[in-house]
Formats: sequence, structure tokens, C-alpha cells
Amino acid sequence: MVSNISKRKLFEILFKGLPIGCFLVDKNLKIIAFNESAEELTGWKEKEALGRPCREVLKSSLCDKFCPLEESARLKRSFIARDATITSRFGEEIPICFSSSTVFDDEGHVEAGIEIFRDVGANKRLQTLRNRIISVFAHDIKTPIAVTGGLAKRLLDEKVGPLNEKQREYLKLILKESTGIENLVNELLELLHIESGRISKEQTTVNLSVFIKEIVDEIAPKAREKGIKIREDAETDLLPIYLDKIQIKRVLINLLDNAIKYSDPGKEIELSAHKKDGWLILEVKDQGIGIPEDDLPHVFEYFYRGKNSKKVADGTGIGLASSRAIVETNGGRIWVKSKEGQGTTFFIRLPFSPDP
Ligand SMILES: Nc1ncnc2c1ncn2[C@@H]1O[C@H](COP(=O)(O)OP(=O)(O)OP(=O)(O)O)[C@@H](O)[C@H]1O
Ligand SMILES: [Mg+2]
Repeated sequence: MVSNISKRKLFEILFKGLPIGCFLVDKNLKIIAFNESAEELTGWKEKEALGRPCREVLKSSLCDKFCPLEESARLKRSFIARDATITSRFGEEIPICFSSSTVFDDEGHVEAGIEIFRDVGANKRLQTLRNRIISVFAHDIKTPIAVTGGLAKRLLDEKVGPLNEKQREYLKLILKESTGIENLVNELLELLHIESGRISKEQTTVNLSVFIKEIVDEIAPKAREKGIKIREDAETDLLPIYLDKIQIKRVLINLLDNAIKYSDPGKEIELSAHKKDGWLILEVKDQGIGIPEDDLPHVFEYFYRGKNSKKVADGTGIGLASSRAIVETNGGRIWVKSKEGQGTTFFIRLPFSPDP
């Protein structure tokens, strides 16, 4: 058991040494403690910040619309990992991710508020740069590829004269390759669109077991071709729920497509759906080639393909990146467990809202 004295010391050490900005305010929102990282980020020294209203120091984009500390006291709950912008003492706008909570005394009166925040500017800048590079590249390559494919098609249709066998064979190859690149470019642009969060979210009523059956029916011909059986296991007593049917279906088709691609003929796949602690949990389990340990942390990255998968099937490494973007824009999480040679299970956790 930690004594009261050492608890206080512990708090001071933790508070001072935290590698993220942190400050405490009294019940009037005046700053009563300000750590070193907060000094670095805001440009205010502790002794200057103490006693000032926090809005004067942070000058946050939120201060005028909604004070998270006041709201946290009013609603008696914390705000975790929200985005905002603060303005440093020298006028620099800094994007931050913050959490706010209130401390109440034994009678339930507000005693103090605590705000923790970190600079997310570097991440945002990298992401913007990455998206800009991909988007410029994809748009620039789109037109020449479409023109190449169109011309190859005209030649193949003998619009400019008869072809011999060799010429026909080469032109077919040119058309196949340019169509492949065109599809890749379109998938990339769509992935950026999903990641930007600008896709329209169409939430509809879904009966889970019917939804799961519909998905399995759609992909079944592909599985049958390879002699693979798909089992479905959806909670049937589940009341209809409300979710983005089209997008979630897309994710599950992506995962089932992988499960079929990366399994040997004759194996089984299981798609299950159940409710847990207010979340909808979806699982796609296969008995396929598995993912090597070194590749596991990377499979949701753009264009990443595991070492063992390249020998087994073609692919571009976009399916999982777009699945993750869709799940996250729908407020969920996606993760994977796998052992090379022993199969793979993908899990999805989605916020579960009952039919309104
Ligand atoms: N069920 C699975 N079993 C084994 N490896 C898998 C499985 N699902 C994904 N992987 C690994 O993760 C990588 C990324 O998957 P992802 O779906 O993003 O790309 P892909 O299937 O290679 O290509 P595509 O963009 O056409 O879907 C795969 O190349 C493979 O190495
Ligand atoms: Mg795939």
C-alpha cells in the first residue's frame, strides 16, 4: 500500500516527467499546476501560467464553443482522445489530441480539472504529405493509362487494319496490364477517399443472420471453385441492428476473399457474428497458410504483402488497408491473430446500436 506522502511524491514525479502536456485547474478553471511538456508546447512558463484561466493560455479552437473541462464537470464523465487546435504564446497553431477529466470531492463538488494533451502535428503533416503524393501520382497516371488501354482496344478491334497472331497476342497483354494498373489506381483513389472520412455513411436496419447469409452466398461460388466450405455462425436471437451495410459487407468480402486466396483446396472458413459488452464482434477464421510473425504488424499497411503470400496468389496489398479505413471510419477496430502454417483469424469490433 502506498502511503499518502509517497502518493503525493509519486504524483509530482509523474506529473513533472510526463512526456505529454498536462495541467490542473481549480473549480474556476484557473491553472494550479503546469508541467514541463505543457511549457514546451504552449510557450508559457509554469510561473506565468499559474493563476491564469486555462482558455487564456491554451487559446484552443474549442474554448468558445465547448469547454471540455466544464462539460466533463457537468456530465460527470471524461473526454478521452479528442482532437483540437491550440495557439501557442507565439501564435503558432498546434493540432493536439487531448483528454479532460474532473476530480470531485467526497460530497460530489468539483475540486479540480485535469487536462492532458499532445502534439499530433508531425503525424498529421506526414499523413497529408503521403496522401498528397499518392493522390498526385494516381491522378497523373490515370489519363495516360486510360489512353493506352483505349488505343490497344482500338487496334485489337482492327479499327486501323488487320492484325497477325503475334500482334494480337501482344496487344491483349498490353490491354490486360493497363486494365490492371487502371484498377489499382482507382482502388488507391477510393482508399484515400475512405480515409478522408468523406464517404457517405448509409446506416440501415440489418438482421444479422440474414446479412451474414447474404455475404456468404455472394462469395460462395469463388470458394466452391477451390473446394472450400464456408460455415456461418451468427447469433440468430439478435435484434435487428443499425449499421452501414454496404461498407461492412465490403470489408467482410475482402476478408473472405483473402481467406479463400490464402487457403489450400478442401479447407474450411468460418464467418461468425456475435454481441459482446455492447459491441458487435465479427470474425473470419481460416485454416490457410497463416501470416509469418514478422509480417503480422504490417498487413494493414498500404501495399504490404506477406512473404509467403506472393507464391500463393496475386494481389496488390490494398484490401486490408481499405478494410481498416472503413472499420475505423465506422467507429470500430480491426485486428488479426495468426500463426504461419496454422491459419488466420481476423476480428472486427463495431459499435453496436440497436434499431432506432
Ligand atoms: N487470410 C489470410 N491468410 C494469410 N495471409 C493473409 C490473409 N489475409 C491477409 N494476408 C496477408 O496480408 C497481406 C495483405 O492483405 P491484403 O488483402 O491487403 O492484400 P492482398 O490480398 O495481397 O491484395 P488485394 O489488394 O488484392 O486484396 C496479404 O498479401 C497476405 O500476405
Ligand atoms: Mg486481399
